[in-house]
Amino acid sequence: MLPSELAKYKYDSKTIIALTAWDSITGSLVEEAGADLVLVGDSLAMVALGYKTTLPVTLENMIQHTNAVCRGFQKSLKTKPLVVCDMPFLSYHCGEDKAVEYAGRIIKETDAKAVKLEGSEPEIQQVISRLIRMGIPVMGHLGLTPQNYLNQGLKKQGLEKISQDKIKKDCQILEEIGCFSIVLEHIPDSLAEEISKTLKIPTIGIGAGECCDGQVRVTADLLGLSKTQPPFCKPLVNGRDYLVDQLKQWVSSQRVN
Ligand code: KIV
Repeated sequence: MLPSELAKYKYDSKTIIALTAWDSITGSLVEEAGADLVLVGDSLAMVALGYKTTLPVTLENMIQHTNAVCRGFQKSLKTKPLVVCDMPFLSYHCGEDKAVEYAGRIIKETDAKAVKLEGSEPEIQQVISRLIRMGIPVMGHLGLTPQNYLNQGLKKQGLEKISQDKIKKDCQILEEIGCFSIVLEHIPDSLAEEISKTLKIPTIGIGAGECCDGQVRVTADLLGLSKTQPPFCKPLVNGRDYLVDQLKQWVSSQRVN
């Protein structure tokens, strides 16, 4: 699937289902589960690489993990999910030329068909605009932006009118400069609903209520594998406890002699 095809989901009022993946096993799981979009998010810094935040992840990490995810896809499935890869912290903050070079590497060296960038500061808008003009589709990401952790923490955003107005204005700008979709993370449901009704491009929510045009979840959180669970993602299964328990049983079964 191409990024431009997501617009039809919104037009047809069909919810876009997006899941993250970080290696070939999770790639195969989320593809088989029927995700429309697979996000190789920089949350892989925590879920795959053991960092405390997304800040240390590198462009090489993102390329390597995106390729692993895509190798996990079954060649036989006719409709491939759209793969979007996060641009890591500081890979698009040091000038437009560098951003084009780094986003270009993601597109040329992996099967990702788009990149995701966080924020909407004037410099970021310039970068997004340039990437799109150069033929690289961009997904925006507003609300809680974990790459801004040192300023913002992991707090819910858009709680006061001034910040709600800024998020709404930033969404409009990202749509105007050509983003094909925007992730809205950890903002009030009513704000996400209003934005989703106003924008022509689809919104994809995480911790932003049920009224976005799509939903995205970090797969490790859904499966209950993460050590710390975000407040907005109830795990489907207590995966970690279950798997540790199974492994413990196997370990003790091997110790019988
Ligand atoms: O990195 C990631 O997994 C993300 C999602 C939280 C949307 O950006």
